[in-house]
Amino acid sequence: MDYSIESSPLDKLQSDCLLVGIYENQQLSPAATQLDSLFGGLLTKLIGRGDIKGKNAETLLINNLPDGNIARIVLLGFGERGKVTRKQYRKALAAAIKTVKDSKVSAASCALLDIDVNGADSQWKARQVVEVFNDGLYQYSATKKVDDKNPLQRLAVVADDSQKALAETGLQQGIAIAKGMELAKHLADLPGNICTPTHLAEQALALAGEHDKLNCEILEESDMEALGMGSFLSVSRGSRQPAKLICLDYQGGDSNAKPIVLIGKGLTFDAGGISLKPGLGMDEMKYDMCGGASVLGLMRMATTLNLKLNIVGLIPASENLPDGAANKPGDIWTSMSGKTIEILNTDAEGRLILCDTLTYAKKYNPDVVIDMATLTGAVIVALGRVPSGLFGNDDKLCNDLLSAGDTACDLVWRMPVWEEYQEQLKSNFADLANIGGPDGGSITAAVFLSKFAEEYRWAHIDIAGTAWRTGANKGATGRPVPLVSQYLLNRASA
Ligand code: BES
Ligand code: MN
Ligand code: ZN
Repeated sequence: MDYSIESSPLDKLQSDCLLVGIYENQQLSPAATQLDSLFGGLLTKLIGRGDIKGKNAETLLINNLPDGNIARIVLLGFGERGKVTRKQYRKALAAAIKTVKDSKVSAASCALLDIDVNGADSQWKARQVVEVFNDGLYQYSATKKVDDKNPLQRLAVVADDSQKALAETGLQQGIAIAKGMELAKHLADLPGNICTPTHLAEQALALAGEHDKLNCEILEESDMEALGMGSFLSVSRGSRQPAKLICLDYQGGDSNAKPIVLIGKGLTFDAGGISLKPGLGMDEMKYDMCGGASVLGLMRMATTLNLKLNIVGLIPASENLPDGAANKPGDIWTSMSGKTIEILNTDAEGRLILCDTLTYAKKYNPDVVIDMATLTGAVIVALGRVPSGLFGNDDKLCNDLLSAGDTACDLVWRMPVWEEYQEQLKSNFADLANIGGPDGGSITAAVFLSKFAEEYRWAHIDIAGTAWRTGANKGATGRPVPLVSQYLLNRASA
């Protein structure tokens, strides 16, 4: 897809398909009003006939216009004027994609920066147009022929002189975030037999090869052995695929600025190990590397925008399978931190690979550490599939992430990491047990991680309910790339 800014006025604009807005009670947006007069009151006539009311996400395709510069118009409903929320703006855009796709055009233009959205400027709106369209047009094709290939190739965001500067910035941000989400979704949707730890490492090396400021180092199992990562290696012992610790280092900021460290769980397939998962829906555990894929997507975003920040990306990548060498319930291992861990359930493997990575992160002297992980089914019980779970040991960092999520419409909801929960992780034979029983499962998982993140400001995002869609529309979402991108953009402009 090619995205651009279009600055011709509407009476000069050439378009195969032009999108303009309408509010509830049939009030036309400024751009729609201008088109109405260009077409001799055609829009007024159609709304008078009741063809569209202007409710949020309603669409009307007008494709029999008189010969001229504009071949088609899509009227797009946004809801009540003055009350359009950011979420509703995005919802309407998503609805428009279907109509544009159905019209089979190869190029479209959006004159939608004039819609009043509470708390949003032209920059945000231009960014959303790119993000929402790119997301809606994504089509997995790595291992499946797609017959109905989407013909839309170009999308222009119409901006007048007063909007142009902000719209241009928003467009570039949108392109970078969209590219990051696309990479995250593509890797996540790949099956476990293709997207192995080695494949993730190759993707990271390839990404680093594209940018001078991005470097990549892969730690092999022997390196991790030497570092004493007994917890991480206990998970990969049961797999024939060698584990990798992928370390990406992006130097976009001052050489002495402390880095933001992003950690992503990269379990390329989680069968549960000896504590085997039930068969139904087990295929979805190929998505257990979505945190790692998001870190790669975020690195792609940061390099595309040349963000003036130092960012480190760490992806512990492994499989979790049953095998003669696999972890057994009751096994005890020494983590890199020196703490011993009793494995009571081999399916709680995410925290085992993350804890050694959290310890390893100390060597970067981080400003903050943010981990993203499909860590617990329990977070879905607690929060459903709307927000990701947010945990952390620093209020400022957590509040910054909450507000970034609001802006990006990629929501998180904060959960406690209180010491009272530590009781549940006590073991008679080791410093920590790897599970805390059925109560508050996503919290005890976070409390486990917090024991390895005491020396820096840390947040943990549990994306088990948000990183992919289950059911008929199964597929990766690219979350939390928009949320963390917003956080990084905010940090870069602070
Ligand atoms: N990758 C899973 C978490 C998960 C489960 C994500 C279902 C999305 C959907 C994780 O490794 C896991 O298996 N967690 C266990 C922890 C339990 C054994 C304490 C879980 O959630 O069941
Ligand atoms: Mn598991
Ligand atoms: Zn897992």
